[in-house]
Amino acid sequence: MSLVENRDARPPGPTGLPVVGNSLQFGRDPLSYMTHAARAYGDVVYLEFAGMPFYQLNHPDLVKYVLVENNQNYRKGDLFQYELRLLGQGLLNSEGAAWREQRHRLEPAFHPQRIAAFAEMMTGYTERLLEEWADEEVRDVHEDMMRLTLEIVADALFSVDIRRESTEIGEALETVMEQFRRSSRLPLEVPDWLPTRTNLEFHRAAKALDAVVANIIRERKAGTREGADDVVSRLLDAGVPEENLRDEVLTLVLAGHETTALALSYTFDLLTRHPPVLAEVQAELDSLAGHPPTMADVKAMTRTDQVLKESMRLYPPVYGLLREPFTDDEIGGYHIPAGATVGMHQWVIHRDPRFFSDPRSFRPDRWTPAFERELPAFAYFPFGGGPRRCIGDRFAMLEAKFVLGTILQQFDVEAVSTKPLELDPAITLRPKGGIRVRVTRR
Ligand code: HEM
Repeated sequence: MSLVENRDARPPGPTGLPVVGNSLQFGRDPLSYMTHAARAYGDVVYLEFAGMPFYQLNHPDLVKYVLVENNQNYRKGDLFQYELRLLGQGLLNSEGAAWREQRHRLEPAFHPQRIAAFAEMMTGYTERLLEEWADEEVRDVHEDMMRLTLEIVADALFSVDIRRESTEIGEALETVMEQFRRSSRLPLEVPDWLPTRTNLEFHRAAKALDAVVANIIRERKAGTREGADDVVSRLLDAGVPEENLRDEVLTLVLAGHETTALALSYTFDLLTRHPPVLAEVQAELDSLAGHPPTMADVKAMTRTDQVLKESMRLYPPVYGLLREPFTDDEIGGYHIPAGATVGMHQWVIHRDPRFFSDPRSFRPDRWTPAFERELPAFAYFPFGGGPRRCIGDRFAMLEAKFVLGTILQQFDVEAVSTKPLELDPAITLRPKGGIRVRVTRR
């Protein structure tokens, strides 16, 4: 009898505690727990969170199966959508026909030619940030990058300069993440309507974000920037109702800035820990024509490209994906019941020695064209894959190059501490306590 005929044959996995299952041990240090589970139990691991079955997939082929080959049998699922409930039915959360229509509507905004037109705007906002940087000052670059990427995405997609609201958004986002962190550590969810302090804070934060989004929509409707062909105008032209507009705008604001900010922040951290690599990147940037990088320079920024890829390998801003099968399925020889949660973790697979030699080391030079050609699909998937692959992947990579390039042309960055980076795996992978570096004018 094959394993799948025996529907009760569960994949191996660490033993949990009664009732809460693996929640408590997982909650203490999710990254190590997931990694340990993969290395100790293999490519399909069974976990249980408060009675809910969870299948952790640890091989690129299995990730490809779920995200591409059999993607029609998978939805994002309750767990994912609960975590991101604030975003309503925006592109990240929606499913089925509604998702298809939304994706189709938004795709033109991310066309390579459109994105290319953002180059100058991206370096422009970066230079505006650098006006605030004082020589030899210690800065939290994570905070800086969060603000900068927010300004860039708001300008690119909504033609508004969001400078005034960016601190408010930052604070609201912090509260939302904090709420997520708490709820993911508890075996049982606290219902949203209970007037606990965290819930009240969460609702206040959600309201603040709503107000900012309403402001963006109002400004766009008032046509502050004449003739702007942006996402809000397109959605308005297509007759998208106000409520859906809110979900779409909030989704793009959040999905579009926090992740890119993280990729940049970890890159700064890695470069301060690897001065020879920093020197190489700066040499490459200095060889450009003495101005901030332009579209014409991107091809020549190969070292910068390798550094960003390696940074997102080690610190993938989105460190895990979740899915739920509509109907029973078979993965890696195991029966997966409909409605179970399937988890695929970039954090685990990007550090798997089967695919990356010396996996914990920062080695940008591993990213040669030959290496990329030979790397199995989904051994590296910072932007996910299949139909629900990140819509902003090209936008993000270009933005990261322009921001990093503009900054490192003008400033050196130096570590202020040798302490290892502390991570905070919330919805995204955040650095605990920010990333502080000393910036020195070159
Ligand atoms: C380094 C930066 C970024 C990373 C690492 C990243 C990562 C991801 C990943 C992994 C997914 C797939 C989620 C899943 O399958 O469950 C995703 C989806 C998405 N991302 Fe990104 N992202 C980045 C930048 C951006 C930017 C700049 C935008 C928009 C301006 C954006 C907007 C979205 C949206 C709307 C989706 C949902 C797409 C869909 O379901 O059709 N992302 N992103």
